[in-house]
Amino acid sequence: MNSSKIAVAGGTGAVGAHVVDVARDRGHDVVVLSRSAGVDLVEGSGLAAALAGVDAVIDVASTQTMSAKKSTHFFTTVTHNLLAAEKAAGVQHHVALSIVGSDRAPHAYYAGKVAQEKAIRGGDIPWTILRATQFHEFASQIYGQLKFGPLVVVPKMRSQPVSAREVAERLVDIAEGAPAGHVSDLGGPREENMANMVRAHAARLPGTHWVLELPIPGAYGRAMRDGTLVPGPGADRGTQTYTDWLGRAGA
Ligand SMILES: NC(=O)c1ccc[n+]([C@@H]2O[C@H](COP(=O)([O-])OP(=O)(O)OC[C@H]3O[C@@H](n4cnc5c(N)ncnc54)[C@H](OP(=O)(O)O)[C@@H]3O)[C@@H](O)[C@H]2O)c1
Repeated sequence: MNSSKIAVAGGTGAVGAHVVDVARDRGHDVVVLSRSAGVDLVEGSGLAAALAGVDAVIDVASTQTMSAKKSTHFFTTVTHNLLAAEKAAGVQHHVALSIVGSDRAPHAYYAGKVAQEKAIRGGDIPWTILRATQFHEFASQIYGQLKFGPLVVVPKMRSQPVSAREVAERLVDIAEGAPAGHVSDLGGPREENMANMVRAHAARLPGTHWVLELPIPGAYGRAMRDGTLVPGPGADRGTQTYTDWLGRAGA
């Protein structure tokens, strides 16, 4: 495809940094929309100038919360601010990353993803939404958030984690094409136990770690355990396993 100008909302995050890399490698002109790059997507500040001349926006911004209220506020505010600024700037394609199964588990953080998808579907900008499973980095994100001294608490969870790099490649493919609505889900090559993923991550770090796997009560915890977040048979599968990824990350 001819090179184009792509803005990446959340372009400094776990998947966003890969999106920026992949898009630059393919010759696109890339603009990063994040607070560290001078754009606050919740306040809407800096957006108008940043979107000048942009053809497509890839939204991979996120917030760290388990509160449905906070998550819904973040994702709806960011999406409304982006779509309004995209309309003013003449952006032709809004691409967003969502999560496999979040539509069937509209609780806690996932409530925000459901609200984000709804805002995009109801908006004025032609769109594509890709739902992916947890990234391989998710284990280290849990480790960072749920570590209390040497104890790491991990929700009992069925997941089929995917390489963030492969998700980024798919997102740039999508941004290079025409808006396509909901596209096939993307998961990793095989199912993993999240507690074992966190154990493998922790084993590479100095010090002692006790990883405790706990079922989270309520509908949110049930969705984590019952396979709601695992992609169905029609989903696309990435190729890199968690073990391969850990090996490469340590190399
Ligand atoms: N993590 C997973 O396993 C996973 C799996 C599937 C889908 N997803 C989805 O993928 C997307 C990205 O997730 P991630 O884990 O890569 O996120 P992340 O690592 O937490 O990165 C979040 C990004 O959002 C930016 N950001 C946060 N608040 C902002 C604000 N007010 N204004 C501007 N930028 C802001 C951050 O940059 P600054 O701090 O510089 O502002 C950062 O670039 C999310 O939509 C998530 O739901 C994640």
